[in-house]
Amino acid sequence: AGGPWEECFEAAVQLALRAGQIIRKALSEEKRVSTKTSAADLVTETDHLVEGLIISELQKRFPSHRFIAEEAAAAGAKCVLTPSPTWIVDPIDGTCNFVHRFPTVAVSIGFAVNQECQHQFSSVETKRSLYPCNSTKLEFGVIYHCTEERLYTGRRGRGAFCNGQRLRVSGETDISKALVLTEIGPKRDPATLKLFLSNMERLLHAKAHGVRVIGSSTLALCHLASGAADAYYQFGLHCWDLAAATVIIREAGGIVMDTSGGPLDLMSCRVVAAGTREMATLIAQALQTINYGRDDEK
Ligand code: IPD
Repeated sequence: AGGPWEECFEAAVQLALRAGQIIRKALSEEKRVSTKTSAADLVTETDHLVEGLIISELQKRFPSHRFIAEEAAAAGAKCVLTPSPTWIVDPIDGTCNFVHRFPTVAVSIGFAVNQECQHQFSSVETKRSLYPCNSTKLEFGVIYHCTEERLYTGRRGRGAFCNGQRLRVSGETDISKALVLTEIGPKRDPATLKLFLSNMERLLHAKAHGVRVIGSSTLALCHLASGAADAYYQFGLHCWDLAAATVIIREAGGIVMDTSGGPLDLMSCRVVAAGTREMATLIAQALQTINYGRDDEK
């Protein structure tokens, strides 16, 4: 039995594979590149094309559902989680890699649903204070590594897989034995860079085996889910970088939390994830906060 969201999950998988094909082909072609919030925050016509394809196909099939998507948000659409089923989409995660033909790019599709009161408020104007996020749960996540053709999936209560192989996080609890992943984030002003570098320095002082920046938050989080890294942290990512990956990591046995050590807030633009709670807590304690505001207040 597939469960109530089976059709949605299957649609996400099919669309991620279709989008991946388009991105793989476009990777080696000439691109028109524009900037968004900073000179390092890039977008191409392929980001728009792929987002348009995913959203229009899903809208056709699931007309009552809501959508949060990276390029729509960049154009001013609000990011709010309501009790209605909501798709959270990053058409190309790793756009900077994509622009440079660095082959670490992914499509990410997450799906969140209010477990208690589905559909009830779907047509009502939404506010975070009215419908707190914590009643809306992430149901599944699909992330497709476009060039290596690896499909990562996680479904609440049903495990996480990569091309059919079950995923398991590492059991490491000691920073001095950890491989840690992070991403730089879009802000490059001197104060932000100082904090970013000093956070990295703190982990290196704690004798982490290594700190890696691969240019795609979602694929870094998939490496964590696979046990290929022990921890991940970042300030300046978005709900579309986190939604699908959070389900995959949790279903692989891992922890996803706020950098304060408290529960994850999908809209807070920051995260710590690890194979174990001990590791996540140690990383959270080592970090200084970099303020990126909130996705639902932009
Ligand atoms: C970004 C990438 C980048 C990370 C940013 C993300 P995008 O996603 O994952 O590595 O530092 O936080 O927003 O813009 O390529 O979809």
